[in-house]
Amino acid sequence: MSILNIIKTRRSTRKYKQTPIPEDVFLRVIEAARLAPSGKNFQPWKFIIVKKQALKEKLAEASRGQKFIAQAAVVIVACAYPEQSYQNQGNYMQSWSIDVTCALDHLMLQAQEEGLGTCWIGAFEEEKVKPILNIPDNVKVLALTPLGYPDEEPRDRGRKPLAEIISYDSY
Ligand SMILES: Cc1cc2nc3c(=O)[nH]c(=O)nc-3n(C[C@H](O)[C@H](O)[C@H](O)COP(=O)(O)O)c2cc1C
Repeated sequence: MSILNIIKTRRSTRKYKQTPIPEDVFLRVIEAARLAPSGKNFQPWKFIIVKKQALKEKLAEASRGQKFIAQAAVVIVACAYPEQSYQNQGNYMQSWSIDVTCALDHLMLQAQEEGLGTCWIGAFEEEKVKPILNIPDNVKVLALTPLGYPDEEPRDRGRKPLAEIISYDSY
């Protein structure tokens, strides 16, 4: 598929089959994250691949009880190392959340290419997620995503029209 078609057809998947993901497919999905850009190429990220059912269920619980998270073959927990990220993005912020977002978005698009579903999970409680996976204090949890074969065809949520989101030469 062309990259634009992958982008156009990706949806947040909230129902998954239990079908396991072949290792070569899984490795291509993770490779897409590994190759993402980051501030000064610091790559301040780590992805925890969660396969144990009991852990997936705990993560779903720590994510406001969104049970579909635990249905997927794998849950990926995207983590960041703030102190290893570019410290002066825009002259006012650290780059870690941008860096990890780039990587996770790459991952989600490659997942779509492979026929796999994902769903950005932002509604989680970091203080509950961290002990489940032994994540140290200096590490931030940016997001989670289930990764698995979809068991639904989610509807197109639509987007703002182009004219509303761009301007030329001035704000
Ligand atoms: C920062 C962020 C947080 C999100 N958190 C959740 C979440 O906790 N649970 C969920 O089901 N979807 C979550 N989503 C998915 C959005 O609801 C979804 O991307 C949006 O409605 C557009 O739908 P689409 O992804 O199918 O195009 C999140 C997306 C983003 C970018």
